[in-house]
Formats: sequence, structure tokens, C-alpha cells
Amino acid sequence: MTAAKRIDGKAKAAQLTESITRETATLLAEHGIKPGLAVVIIGKDPASQVYVRNKRRTAESCGFHSVQHSLDADALQPDVLALIHQLNSDDAIHGILVQLPLPEHLDEQLITQAISPSKDVDGFHFINIGKLTAGLTADAFVPCTPAGCMLMIQDEIGNDLSGKNAVVIGRSNIVGKPMASLLLQANATVTVAHSRTKNLPGVVAAADIVVAAVGRPDMVKADWVKPGAVVIDVGINRVEKMIDGEKKMGLTGDVDFDDVGTVAGAVTPVPGGVGPMTISMLMANTLRSARLAAGLEA
Ligand code: GUN
Repeated sequence: MTAAKRIDGKAKAAQLTESITRETATLLAEHGIKPGLAVVIIGKDPASQVYVRNKRRTAESCGFHSVQHSLDADALQPDVLALIHQLNSDDAIHGILVQLPLPEHLDEQLITQAISPSKDVDGFHFINIGKLTAGLTADAFVPCTPAGCMLMIQDEIGNDLSGKNAVVIGRSNIVGKPMASLLLQANATVTVAHSRTKNLPGVVAAADIVVAAVGRPDMVKADWVKPGAVVIDVGINRVEKMIDGEKKMGLTGDVDFDDVGTVAGAVTPVPGGVGPMTISMLMANTLRSARLAAGLEA
């Protein structure tokens, strides 16, 4: 069995941010507009801190106006909503992202739906979900993680997925559901599997495309996977790993990379696969929002 191709999300993301950086410079030179991204983080969740820092750094490296609002874990809901309303009416801000998960006392629905749909670079507003589900993808902000997965899939297979079976494992609003909509829009035959699915290995065995987004370390094994399949690993799990002969905390995906790599056609690694692509798509959405606000083509 030949080894699968390792899809280099990090390199692909770097290419994307390079072209976003160039377009940002042109937008500023020709129209005097700088894309503005506001990231709101509430509390001290360590993983969220890392994600937000990466988002801010990438935004700065693209030449964006980048602001971060760090609120205490006990921030009051009216104060969070007031901040969002202030950002909604700030002309220097084109994208607003409230990092999830939120502390338990806050209403995630109320907060994500308070973001103006035209600044919703996460694609979590019902208006954007509705457009995506209705197939109006070109007119919607598409959630960043599934958008990044889709780019990698289409780089491997082509834009038209007619005749391909795709299995999405996980039915979250952030990844699973929008991923299924995107695959369907590209003409794939889509199955959404989840924790109540019977015979998950049997379902995955029929898939030309597998997207794993469940949060279970190394769950997808080689004997589940159809030879030649494209396997996209969205999982980011913190586990104890042997690194240089020592037990350390490391990251692993939902796919057993080395095992699946003996059967699949192409696999994304963790880290260095979906993660960097997600950040690039956030930059792409923010640039797009700035262009639209200026009356330019997306
Ligand atoms: N937490 C984990 N993933 C995401 C994401 O894509 N957007 C936001 N806002 N929070 C997240």
C-alpha cells in the first residue's frame, strides 16, 4: 500500500494569507480602506487564548486593523451586548468574532445573533446560515473551518464533487452542519454521521471524502477508510503523548494519521492541517466584508 499524501494546510494557508496581504495593500492604496477585525474573548480558557492570539497575529501580518477585547470571565451579558452593538456601528470594523465557548452564564445564541450579519465573519448568524443552506454560498459568510476544509478537498478532487460520497462525522453548528451544506452545494452525496449513528465504520467505508469533527482522539482507523479517500481531520485533542521518549501533552486529531495514511489517498495532519486554514479563511472573510462595505465586488 502506498502512503497517503500529507495535505500541508500550513503551506496552503501561508499562500492564502500572502495573497490576502497583497489584496489588502491594494485596497488601502486604491481606496484608502483597511480591513478591521475585532476579536472578543471572554474569560481565560487556555486553548481560546492561543486561538485568539493566532488570529490577531495573522490579522496584523495581513495589514489589517486588528483589535482585541478581553473581558473577564464574569462579564455581564448586557455589557457584552453593548460591546457588540458598539462594534456593529464602528465603520473601522468589518469583522466581529466572539470566541467560543463562552462562560456558562452567557447566552451564546443571543450573543452570536447580536453581531450584524454583514460583519459576521464567523458565519454564525442565522442570515448567513440560511443563505448557505439555501445554496447562496457566494452571498454568505461561510464558517471558517468548513470553508478551509472545502478548499483542501477541492484542491485534491476538483470543484465538482458529482458522484462522490462524502461522510461528515459530527453535527455541530460550527463544523458538521455547514460542512454538509458546502459538500452538497458542490454536488457530493452527503451523509452526516454522529454519536447516535449505527455502524460508523461501515458508513465511513463508503466515503470518498471523510471529514472528522467529533473531538475523539485517533478515532478514525485505516480499516474504516476506503482506499484512496480524502480524509480531513478537524479534531484538536489534547492528549498525553510520547515525545522524544518523554510523556508530554501534545495535540492529536480525530484521525489516526499514521494508520489511515496507509490506506487513504490524502490526509490532513494535526497540527498543521485544518487549523491554519481556518485562520486564513477568517482573514478572507474579513477582507471580503471590507470590500463589500466599500461598495466593491467581494
Ligand atoms: N471556537 C472554536 N472554533 C471557533 C470558531 O470558528 N469561531 C469562534 N468564534 N469560536 C470558536
